[in-house]
Amino acid sequence: MEIFRTRAEVRNYLEQVKPEGHSVGFVPTMGALHQGHLSLIEAARNKTDLVVCSIFVNPTQFNDKNDLANYPRPIEDDIHKLREAHCDVLFLPEVGEMYNSADKWNIELENLDNILEGEIRPGHYHGVTQIVKKLFDIISPDYAFFGQKDFQQFVVISFMVKKLGLKVKLIMCPIVREKDGLAMSSRNVYLSQEDRQHALALFKSLSKAKADFDTMSISELNRNAMDYLSNAPGIKTEYFEIYNADTFEPTTSKATEKVIALVAARVGKIRIIDNMILNKN
Ligand code: PAJ
Repeated sequence: MEIFRTRAEVRNYLEQVKPEGHSVGFVPTMGALHQGHLSLIEAARNKTDLVVCSIFVNPTQFNDKNDLANYPRPIEDDIHKLREAHCDVLFLPEVGEMYNSADKWNIELENLDNILEGEIRPGHYHGVTQIVKKLFDIISPDYAFFGQKDFQQFVVISFMVKKLGLKVKLIMCPIVREKDGLAMSSRNVYLSQEDRQHALALFKSLSKAKADFDTMSISELNRNAMDYLSNAPGIKTEYFEIYNADTFEPTTSKATEKVIALVAARVGKIRIIDNMILNKN
């Protein structure tokens, strides 16, 4: 695996090695890699000829300075995992390589910035779109791979790609979970054993909504989930919402094609998010 730390080096390399007609698959990450990230590398390997991963803990998307300072950065482990996963190129820039003080660029995200994660983490999606656009400009991928784990992030990036007319095609990959159902996340390492158990309430609330989907109305599903979560020990629920997955707007109708439940809560020192499509396949 080739490792580059500057934009110029990675761009030159990709220009040189990418033969005519071959495709580049790109997996942007913030590191502390787990099976969720590695599933994206595998999806990229299966679909494209050259797989590029980036690791960059992007300061502009953190609305909490402590969260940024404490974000795990096990870079040697990450490099090892990427080598094992047969990633071809790792782009590993420093903050100064990606941002300069004149950076003011922002994309208007309309309502996407005011709901769910956008509402709770002001400025988060401006930071995400800033960095993802910069990375797309440098790597010029044919395909970019993202996890359903951050469903709203996928919606926001799709919105940006459409609005700016970018040529990259976005692929959403399924959520990878621990055996007991907890969605994998880089921040899970900060859960105590007790919090780790409490955190399972999110997956359980989603699974219950999915099991009841055919027999209950959307408002019943919502009410039951909120009852369940507010009685679950050790967690502070921020939202449980049921949305039309295609329009990304709240829905009250089950006639809609794809319905998704999205949940967020504070558990111990960290925030956890999860989601699940409720329709049976
Ligand atoms: P990060 O949280 O490192 O996640 C990188 C990618 O891995 C995202 O597309 C995320 O949805 C996916 N992912 C995380 N956990 C997953 C899981 N359990 N199953 C499947 N996929 C999972 O998301 C970011 O970084 C950043 O916002 C980024 C896009 C890199 C921009 O800075």
